[in-house]
Amino acid sequence: MTDTLFIRPMARNDLEPLLEIVRGTGMFTRAEAEVAYELMDIWLNRPEQKDYIIYVAEENGELAGYVCYGPTPATESTFDLYWIVVHPALQRRGIGGKLLAFAEKECRKRGGRLMVIETSSTEKYAGTRNFYRLNGYEVEGRIKDFYAVGDDRLIFTRRFQ
Ligand SMILES: CC(C)(COP(=O)(O)OP(=O)(O)OC[C@H]1O[C@@H](n2cnc3c(N)ncnc32)[C@H](O)[C@@H]1OP(=O)(O)O)[C@@H](O)C(=O)NCCC(=O)NCCS
Repeated sequence: MTDTLFIRPMARNDLEPLLEIVRGTGMFTRAEAEVAYELMDIWLNRPEQKDYIIYVAEENGELAGYVCYGPTPATESTFDLYWIVVHPALQRRGIGGKLLAFAEKECRKRGGRLMVIETSSTEKYAGTRNFYRLNGYEVEGRIKDFYAVGDDRLIFTRRFQ
């Protein structure tokens, strides 16, 4: 179904369409979308930085989503997956799984041994949490009321062999 999926580094022309995809999910607040933009801006305009890496997925030449990950500063071989987003019309067809697998492969190539992903405990993110579990992640930490009262920060991890 996603045979024509192509994963490549994010380019300047992808900025607006990707932000449109982020907004289109209806999952993120304005402040969160602003953070997504800031990371894209760093990736595009600060070639010397090594903290944030962004790749996009294209299906039949159309942008389908993206993943942002990078080595966690001041750790030995731990990586963070900061963002993963798939176009709302293309979700649940395996694209997110392929983007995640790609990011994991790249981390492992760089000696990565631990991937960390943070997400919310709210009902809205139930599908996202399913997605991480399905892909081998488990909750290793929880900070109660982190994002807001009743909205905990869940810390998912996956260890590589
Ligand atoms: C999370 C996300 C990236 C997954 O991408 P995807 O292409 O839909 O994922 P896949 O097709 O590889 O995997 C689908 C599986 O994930 C889970 N899943 C994903 N979205 C789901 C949803 N809305 N409801 C329930 N389960 C969901 C299910 O287990 C699903 O398997 P199933 O369809 O067989 O039940 C995508 O749903 C998305 O962009 N969500 C909104 C943004 C977000 O929450 N990003 C993560 C925080 S930065």
